[in-house]
Amino acid sequence: MSDKEEVNKPRKLQTPLGVFDILPDDQLYYTHIKKVVRHRCRQSGFRRITTPIFEFTDVFQRSIGDGTDIVQKEMYTFLDRNERSLTLKPEGTAGVVRAYLEHGMKELPQPVELYYIEPHFRYDRPQKGRYRQFWQFGYEIIGESDPALDAQIVHLSCKILDDLGITALFKLQVNSIGCQICREKFLVELQNYYIGKERSMCSNCLERLHKNPLRILDCKEEDCQILAKFAPKLKMYLCEECKEYHQKFLEYLTEVGLKYTENEQLVRGLDYYTKTVFEFWDHQQGAQNSIGGGGRYDGLVELMGGQPTPAVGVAFGIERIIQNMKREKIKIPSKDNLHIFVAQLGDEAKKKCLNLIWELRERGVRTVGALGKASMKAQLKLADRFNVPYTLILGITEVREGTIIIRDMARGQQRIVPFETIIDEVIRLIGEKNLDLYSPAEILYE
Ligand code: HAM
Repeated sequence: MSDKEEVNKPRKLQTPLGVFDILPDDQLYYTHIKKVVRHRCRQSGFRRITTPIFEFTDVFQRSIGDGTDIVQKEMYTFLDRNERSLTLKPEGTAGVVRAYLEHGMKELPQPVELYYIEPHFRYDRPQKGRYRQFWQFGYEIIGESDPALDAQIVHLSCKILDDLGITALFKLQVNSIGCQICREKFLVELQNYYIGKERSMCSNCLERLHKNPLRILDCKEEDCQILAKFAPKLKMYLCEECKEYHQKFLEYLTEVGLKYTENEQLVRGLDYYTKTVFEFWDHQQGAQNSIGGGGRYDGLVELMGGQPTPAVGVAFGIERIIQNMKREKIKIPSKDNLHIFVAQLGDEAKKKCLNLIWELRERGVRTVGALGKASMKAQLKLADRFNVPYTLILGITEVREGTIIIRDMARGQQRIVPFETIIDEVIRLIGEKNLDLYSPAEILYE
């Protein structure tokens, strides 16, 4: 093909790198995870919040921190038609805190407990478990400081992972990165330690040395990890209050039966944390595959223009959770399985089927009908592909005689029943097979 032809050929349309469609089979996982999160959060008194997909860039820049990888390299930032800088949200906490301030939630009984389940966007290097659009669920407790709340956030996370059948895969890593005061002293010592060792540091860490020295500690490069092992330990610089706070946090974790690993190199990739930080690491794959992380962020509300207000929270990556559920072959309860296929032939039969299909659906029977012009043979083939337990067949003869045929697809047997009894008969048969009916109340009020 000549170059000219190549240029004129329409480009194949596909998703950009790092983003993906969520196809019906995967929707089952997303729906199940959302239900589990919603149930556990509601049970603990959290209420749902949805913040916009994009915010003024300042919301993220100020909170996540200018020196972080997210702000430096990963934000989707653009100017709108009025030349205002906007950014697709790379994480959830900043928007929630902005909403807390904007809507005067300080006046509500404190602490305010909020959860979210939403897509986020980071210009990350796409690879397994790392995408440019990904879903997170997270929850935040804003307005109170107590190590028991930090432990409660971790405990709630474990309950959710438990419900999803994957707790055993993860090890809880915990650390304290202190408050502003003790951390400042530590950072001076840390920078002093690295001065003179620049030749052994990766280019990222050289940059971090001045912009964000704490992040050097969790660099994944081998040489940097060796240096980090011998670097000053933050623990030695914690003030009495931070030490006591951390000790209490660990006691509360033990009290509720949670195992943890103290990890002095755990620092998190966002600047807003104070005191408690934690992550859930994959046993087999290390930090690279942390499925969730969070911590306390007592300075953030003030940084964003509010009164000093303590807070703590966590977020999990839904795609990483799904990856693990698939690896563990966790079965998802599905309500997508169909019960009945309705096949019809002739105009009179089609008219009767239009009502029959909806009456079945209203009674909770998941029903599909072939309302096109396909032959009976083609319709029955389709019923097979839908994998339904029963097919109803209405032809010209059945319409004339006031009957309908019901076919047991697995046994290949069929019988004729009076048309007016068919709905009760279908419901009886579904009950016999222990299949759940889909109750309309369940959809509206669950
Ligand atoms: P984070 O550690 O940046 O924390 O993200 C939380 C989780 O989101 C990660 O553990 C990971 O599972 C998932 N995640 C992050 N980036 C990607 C990506 N590119 N592709 C797929 N999954 C990803 C936060 O976002 C904080 N806002 C958590 C928090 C809430 N702290 C306090 N409250």
